[in-house]
Amino acid sequence: VIDIRKLYGDTEMFTFDPGFTSTASCESAITYIDGDQGVLLHRGYPIDQLAEKSSFMEVSYLLLHGELPSKAELEKFEYTINRHTMVHEQLSTFYRGFRRDAHPMAIMCGVVGALSSFYHDSTDINDPKQRLIASHRLIAKMPTIAAMAYKYSVGQPFLYPRNDLSYAGNFLRMTFGVPAEEYVVDPVVEDAMDKIFILHADHEQNASTSTVRLAGSSGANPFACIAAGIACLWGPAHGGANEAALNMLREIGTVDRIPEYIARAKNKDDPFRLMGFGHRVYKNFDPRAKVLSKAATDVLEKLGINDPVLEVARELEQIALNDSYFIEKKLYPNVDFYSGVILSAIGFPTEMFTVLFALARTVGWVAQWNEMISDPGQKIGRPRQLYTGSAQRDYVSVDKR
Ligand code: ACO
Repeated sequence: VIDIRKLYGDTEMFTFDPGFTSTASCESAITYIDGDQGVLLHRGYPIDQLAEKSSFMEVSYLLLHGELPSKAELEKFEYTINRHTMVHEQLSTFYRGFRRDAHPMAIMCGVVGALSSFYHDSTDINDPKQRLIASHRLIAKMPTIAAMAYKYSVGQPFLYPRNDLSYAGNFLRMTFGVPAEEYVVDPVVEDAMDKIFILHADHEQNASTSTVRLAGSSGANPFACIAAGIACLWGPAHGGANEAALNMLREIGTVDRIPEYIARAKNKDDPFRLMGFGHRVYKNFDPRAKVLSKAATDVLEKLGINDPVLEVARELEQIALNDSYFIEKKLYPNVDFYSGVILSAIGFPTEMFTVLFALARTVGWVAQWNEMISDPGQKIGRPRQLYTGSAQRDYVSVDKR
């Protein structure tokens, strides 16, 4: 094998780090993770405290602006977000171009990307005011767009947002309400929804956030960047794992079948993995999974739902946590392991799970994108590569090949 770099006398040094396991791509003051200790802080505040005491609107403000808002600041922020919840009426015709059975994440990629064709007054990334308006628009419109994706899939009419409701309450009504009846938001469901949004709001430089930053580094408009993030989130190794985790738990069905699936996950000849288990950064409990594990029991109990899938999840967790394979590889439940159980209890079909993740993560993406664009030293993201192809050779005409 000829090393082509030697042929050219190329001595330039770079790091070779597939999957970026030990490469920091940026400086950031938004989120801190200690994967060994299982710690997650947003602007210094522990995630369990935020999930228990805060609201998604407050956490959104915190991520965007760096500090918790005063009462007046929070009211103003909520008012601003409320003002932007409507989408352009022409966007509804855009939906009708999708097949009725389209995956809602496919719709999300298209519709969010298309926002840049509707809101020209907030695509100048060099103007901080336009950047803020675009950020507010994205956070505000995401529940409307996500609910419309759901309504389209079930063939029901779209519902306009109602701005007297909370962020979560408004989303629930647009999703599950019908024009003929008054939809009453159940406070248990509203609270669970808000908690799930908080727990998914940001997670530093994960694959989708890095995608948003990379897309944004070229100067692309924020709507296009968030659409790129949504596309990346869709994969089953990332946001799509919540859908895959619940499907897996339902497939297992009963606790007596768990050993069979544990054995499959450990078998290197079988591509099967325990979905909702393992994490690139957490080599301990994902703190979000801890909150959701408790919330799953609370929500199902309060809603009077007896879903056997919760029993399968609990037993699977216990068996895996005591199995040498999972102990040695430090594989613990991640945020996706229990979220599906709660979302299913609320009434969402599995195809909507990743959409909800995207909805909540939008605030993190937007905060990270703003942080990057505001940095005067920001450069276009351009990774290097280790070339392994052929050495230079001469072209051979087609009749001689
Ligand atoms: N089940 C069984 N084995 C696993 C699992 C799993 N869920 N996760 C990792 N492993 C094993 C791998 O086979 C590998 O074994 P090896 O060293 O013998 O080859 C070892 O653990 C390390 O796994 P990697 O894939 O190298 O770890 P990486 O950090 O690249 O991947 C990931 C992390 C993608 C999350 C992985 O654990 C996984 O696929 N989990 C299941 C999908 C999932 O739940 N994704 C959601 C992540 S959280 C989020 O995005 C919100």
